Amino acid sequence: MTTTVRTRVAIIGAGPAGLLLAHLLAHAGIESVVIDQRSREEIQTTIRAGILEQGTVEILDTLGTSRARTVGSRHEGIELRFDGEGHRIDFEALVGRAVWLYPQHEALKDLIAARVTAGQDLRFGVTATRVEDAASALPRVIATDADGEQLVIEAEFVVGADGSRSVARAAVSGSRNGYFREYPFAWFGILCEAPPSADELIYSNSPDGFALISQRSPSVQRMYFQCEPDADPDALTEEELWRELQKRVPGTELQEGPIFQRDVLRFRSFVAHELLHGRVALVGDAAHTVPPTGAKGMNLAVADVLVLERALRALLLENDARLLEAFPETALQRIWKAQHFSWWMTSMLHVAPDASDFDRRRQLGELRSVVESEAGRTYLAEAYTGWPLRGLTG
Ligand code: DHB
Repeated sequence: MTTTVRTRVAIIGAGPAGLLLAHLLAHAGIESVVIDQRSREEIQTTIRAGILEQGTVEILDTLGTSRARTVGSRHEGIELRFDGEGHRIDFEALVGRAVWLYPQHEALKDLIAARVTAGQDLRFGVTATRVEDAASALPRVIATDADGEQLVIEAEFVVGADGSRSVARAAVSGSRNGYFREYPFAWFGILCEAPPSADELIYSNSPDGFALISQRSPSVQRMYFQCEPDADPDALTEEELWRELQKRVPGTELQEGPIFQRDVLRFRSFVAHELLHGRVALVGDAAHTVPPTGAKGMNLAVADVLVLERALRALLLENDARLLEAFPETALQRIWKAQHFSWWMTSMLHVAPDASDFDRRRQLGELRSVVESEAGRTYLAEAYTGWPLRGLTG
């Protein structure tokens, strides 16, 4: 049996990009249907990064139900640690801005609750299989619902917000894939029950590799250390994990506690060759992925959505396609800046497996150039707290 539904915008993916877009469109009076192959529970419990740019928090404020400012915590700086010393990058003093530590899955809970409360269409357990007729005025999503029945969503526009393994991408880029870079390392992430080891995040470059000391709450901490891309998350004992972490942050005594989650995050830089084809667009991880150093992933998705939402408003409310035509170029300018920043933070802080003595010393020279220069610290602070979103909205 096939069910066909009709809407103005079909959105594949109930992650930050898809849900935020649906919310902003609803605000403008544009109806949409959002589908996701995962269950609500799975979406709300998958652990992702934790840093929101100031502009992201301000956009989430428009939901009216965001808990970023109440449950999250404002961070006015980070520490870069190398060569046995810590150097604070004071965002507030340098650029008058800050970031919020607020885990992505908490932001997703807020976005899902807002949509459900408003009675807007959001379907879990629905798997998109393909997007058809991208170049026509009535593209459609072919999907399979939780009971295995076929669902067809006909819409005036289709958005692929369906993550790095996007199904929508084939309708936009065809077999042309994208610009791509892999890294010879990954992150080993842990969640543990312990008090914070530091007031702010520590990004540490050490001869043994990179470590990031992050947080989740007064009693739960998130930490990462550089590992091999194919590391087995279960291979190390808790004691060994603490030893690995501790030796990479000399000068700080880590507060240890039971580790209740471990995962290995692969690194990839990717930008799809095409972000728009006819009436189908890609946003968020479907359009690009960045390595995690600097936490740009979700924030970049939010910026894409702002550009696309404005274009869709012009298209669907005023029949004006000019902003849509400009969407790829407008979005790509920020995407490539964020690609550069994420690559830069990654390459500056990690120890490549084939790094020579020259490479190591040059890297320390680079770190020193950043922390000892107000211009260097300011660039980092601007990028980390987020380039202005002004001009993307309106
Ligand atoms: C976190 C993740 C990041 O990639 C980062 O740069 C900072 C914090 C986190 O999960 O807390």
